[in-house]
Amino acid sequence: MKTYLVTGGAGFIGSNYIHYMFRKYGSDIKIINVDKLTYAGNLENLKDLEGNPNYSFVRADICDKEAITKIFNENDIDRVVHFAAESHVDRSIKNPEVFVNTNVLGTAVMLNAAKAAWENEDGSFKEGKKFLHVSTDEVYGSLPDDGKSYFYETTPYSPHSPYSASKASSDMLVKAYIDTYHFPANITNCSNNYGPYQFPEKLIPLMINNALHGKSLPVYGEGKNIRDWLYVDDHAKGIDMVQEKGRLGETYNIGGHNEKRNIEIVNIIIETLQEILPDSDPRKKNVSKDLITHVEDRKGHDLRYAIAPDKIKAEIGWEPETMFKDGIKKTIKWYLENEDWMKNVTSGDYQKYYEEMYKQA
Ligand code: NAD
Ligand code: TYD
Repeated sequence: MKTYLVTGGAGFIGSNYIHYMFRKYGSDIKIINVDKLTYAGNLENLKDLEGNPNYSFVRADICDKEAITKIFNENDIDRVVHFAAESHVDRSIKNPEVFVNTNVLGTAVMLNAAKAAWENEDGSFKEGKKFLHVSTDEVYGSLPDDGKSYFYETTPYSPHSPYSASKASSDMLVKAYIDTYHFPANITNCSNNYGPYQFPEKLIPLMINNALHGKSLPVYGEGKNIRDWLYVDDHAKGIDMVQEKGRLGETYNIGGHNEKRNIEIVNIIIETLQEILPDSDPRKKNVSKDLITHVEDRKGHDLRYAIAPDKIKAEIGWEPETMFKDGIKKTIKWYLENEDWMKNVTSGDYQKYYEEMYKQA
């Protein structure tokens, strides 16, 4: 039985990944979830796993070398899947330091601890051990709005935000471990994810939540920026396939050729809500395109992201399964059915963040 150490498993993608892995492998795997539980980490995302003997949770900061080393000493870890990070561009513009701490130093701690636990005396690594570093396409910078240029694994790094710069640095550290020590790792660079359990500071859940409450929908600038959206389960599947089938030391881009302008996304959300909410639902009367408010643009706002997933398709056979029109419906339905989840995560600190961030909306 393989033992997984998943960092950041209480966040959006991490919790979806853990659900995916137990759906796929059942009791054939063990997962230890290590998470600091920042504002973005929420154990409610995993409450169905409480009492599962194959799942355990450790509250720890990935920058805490002692705590991370202890987990490696007490468990024979076969796989590390490293999600833990500060993940929101707007927050990184306001407060970059915590991004450097968690994303760069935290990754260094994870790499060192895994290396110490897995290294043989002759500098080789124990058979079958693998580290997967989960990263973003934002490390490649921004593409022109030409519909034909894409991010490939060979595209030079050119990060613009403190978030993407910190992720780029962490990727470089992983590459350095691969080159220097032949450390058994892979990197995945994925496009924007959407799905259940995403914190409502990000575009899609923020717009769904605001629309349901009749609050303005703050579109940065003209809303023409383009993101390449992937349903979160397809990302989880890609991570697992890369870890099991990928060539060690390689980077794989994950994305599903699903580019949309932000304004299109907001319009789709409103139209889908109007379509699926029954007339008897009091939230329906709140939902309107009149809520769209164009606000000041994000500083250094990247124009377009678009992944070319050719390598992962050719080498590993990964392809996305969820069409955007189905994924967005499924996602919106999930938020409609999980109002309490949204209430819980938007109480307290979120209010302060929102008022500060969206003063003009
Ligand atoms: P998230 O913000 O929802 O979750 C991050 C998790 O990490 C939270 O549970 C948080 O508590 C935990 N965490 C933060 N700092 C920590 C620390 N110091 N020690 C331990 N745990 C800590 O993020 P997400 O959207 O799920 O992203 C997960 C990973 O995937 C990140 O590395 C991100 O860069 C990458 N990624 C995200 C996207 C996306 O669209 N969301 C796309 C590509 C790659
Ligand atoms: P976001 O979900 O923050 O992801 P990222 O910046 O990592 O791509 O934002 C997605 C796009 O939506 C991005 O171009 C910024 C834009 N956006 C808005 O227009 N309004 C908002 O309130 C937010 C959060 C994002």
